This record gives sequence, structure tokens and C-alpha cells, in this order.
Amino acid sequence: MPVPSLTDYSSASLDCFFREILEQFEREAALARSAEAVEDLRIRWVGRKQGLLNRVGEILKLAPAEARKEAGKRFNALKAAIEPRCDPQRLPPPQSADGGLRLPAAGAPSLAAETIDVTLPGTRRRLGAEHPLIKTMHEMVSVFAAMGYSVAEGPEVESDYYNFEALNFPPNHPARDTQDTLVLADQERKPLRERLLMRTHTSPVQIRTMERRPPPLRIVVPGKVHRNDAADATHSPIFHQIEGLCVDVNITFSDLKGTLDYAMKAFFGSAVKTRFFPSFFPFTEPSADVQISCIFCGGKGCRKCKSSGWIELLGCGMVDPAVFLSVARKQPAYDPEKISGFAFGMGVERIAMMKYGIGEIGQFYSGDLRFLEQFA
Ligand code: PHE
Repeated sequence: MPVPSLTDYSSASLDCFFREILEQFEREAALARSAEAVEDLRIRWVGRKQGLLNRVGEILKLAPAEARKEAGKRFNALKAAIEPRCDPQRLPPPQSADGGLRLPAAGAPSLAAETIDVTLPGTRRRLGAEHPLIKTMHEMVSVFAAMGYSVAEGPEVESDYYNFEALNFPPNHPARDTQDTLVLADQERKPLRERLLMRTHTSPVQIRTMERRPPPLRIVVPGKVHRNDAADATHSPIFHQIEGLCVDVNITFSDLKGTLDYAMKAFFGSAVKTRFFPSFFPFTEPSADVQISCIFCGGKGCRKCKSSGWIELLGCGMVDPAVFLSVARKQPAYDPEKISGFAFGMGVERIAMMKYGIGEIGQFYSGDLRFLEQFA
């Protein structure tokens, strides 16, 4: 290779000049696989008399004074890159006869030849997206945030006291049967109320938050809950809920109805109607189940709503005075004579399945990208 010519000594032409030389060297070095070939490479590039590096040096000597320092620096770098690779002693060890690979010693030519081309385009990583359950929780939370609710959270491993007793489920009360769950082992010596279990609903966070903050209070609580339910198309032993609690003076059942009616319309569209049925929860009195008009048939009756035109969506009610009394031991401001409130709880999976027309709850947990990508 003739050494490339150098018309002027600007940074740009020096760049070009040195790059061309180094590229040429790389091409030749890659072919030099035997000790003899490396020796030839050495004579050609760093040989005392005819070596190409010498010729490069001569060209650079002609550089005007102001470009000398720059040119010298680059020349040294070029030498440092080329010289060590022209030493026949530093060839990688040949592959052993049995074909096993040996690692080349650090600094061996094969490693030095592994250059990184920083001008290659980067590896494109696909952006992730919210999981449909998280997305549903965020959307629901922001509907309530717009009404002045803030977000509260609590532990998933909960004590019997917060999960049941403070919520007016006395020990052995039959309402506990509907919320069977895993309990932590080896706690028999503790009093019942201190024993730990996987929470069966997000309602314990009502108690925890009221104990910390006096009224007025408006919170929503998104979170994961656990129940001894056999998995089927619509049930999973681990699922998610969003709890709501509003406490102030003069809160009435019509506040509850207005709030939930507004929230369902904000979430499912303004054509949706709501209706309230008597129900039972130990921690609300009166209690209600809320149904919305079927979002698939608009209320005319279809397979999804089992021809009734309505779909049951959540539980709610006015906070039972017994609940305020358990809180009042720590926060006397929760005096059931002076304040009142409502609470509600809904299943996130159920709402997401409705909203997106998903038939199998297991899809949420499958991690199957073909399913998840549809919500990106
Ligand atoms: N915690 C109840 C459940 O999981 C739902 C609920 C919450 C009902 C708040 C009323 C008030 O079934």
C-alpha cells in the first residue's frame, strides 16, 4: 500500500489520513495468522528502513509548526496501536487437537483486534408499556383524584386485627368464611389479632389511614389481595382491588351514590347507568352492591349480562359506627356521633375484563406478549 497522501495538515485531513492507515493495517493484520506472516507484517510496517510507519513519520515531518504537536500525538497513538501487534511471539496459542478452545492471554493480538465500531447504530430496545391491570388502576385512580381523593397504600401481609377485627368481623364470625386466606406459619402463641395473614381485601388500609390522619379524609387504595378461591375463568387466588373511603361531617348515602355514579360514567362512558342493591359487609351499614347497565348491549340484555341488562361491579356502603369506634381509640376525632362516611371496593380484574372484553382472567398473569401488546 502506498501511504496515502496528505494535502494539508488540518484536523480533518489528519483524521482521514490516520484512519486510512489504521484500516489498511487492520486488514493486513487480520490475515496474518502464522508466526511467519506476523514477521512479514512487522517488516512491512515497523521495519527499520522500509517500514511504512517510517514513511508516515517522514510525511509528518513536513507539517507546519502549528500542526506538529497534533500530528505527533496521532502518530504516537498509531504506533502504539500497531507495534504490539507485529510481535510474532504474541500470536494466540493454536487450537488444541481435541478442538477445545483456550482463552487467549490478556492483551494477545486476537483480543486487541476486537475493536468496537462506535459509529454503528445502537441496539434498539422496544419500549415497554403499562400492564392492562396497572393501566386500569391508574385510570380509575385518576377519576377519583379529579374528585380530590389521594392515594393510600398498606401492607399485603396484614394482621388479623386490621384485616378482620377492626373492620367488625369478630373472631368466628361467619363473614370470615367468604374471605379465607393464607396465614403465616408458627404464630399459634400470639393472640389472634396479632397473627399475620395475606390480606383478603384493601379495606384494612381504611383503618390504617384513619389511625394516622384525622377527618376529613378522601382516599383511594389500589392494591393486591389474596383469597382461597379456586382459579377459573373469572377467579384468581391473587387479584387486585381499588378501595375508596370518604369521611367528613354530613356525608350521606346520596354522596355515595353521586360519587359512584359519576365515577362509573367517567370510566365507562356517560351513557352508563348505575343501580344499588341491598347487600352485606360487616364494616358498612347499610351496604350495597352496585350494578351498571351492561356496556355490551346498553341494557337490552345479552350473553355477557346473562340477559339481565345489568352487570354487578362493586360493593359499598356507609362506614359502620363500629369501625369508627375501633379507630377512635387512636384518633378520637373519629366519633361516630359527629362524623360519617362511605366506603367502596372494586375488583380491578373484573373492571378491566369488562372494559377490554377479556374472557379469561388468567391472561393477565400469563406474561404472553401477544396478549399484552394489544394494550400498548
Ligand atoms: N372489602 C370488600 C370486599 O372485598 C368490598 C367493600 C369495600 C365493600 C368497601 C364495602 C366497602 O368484598
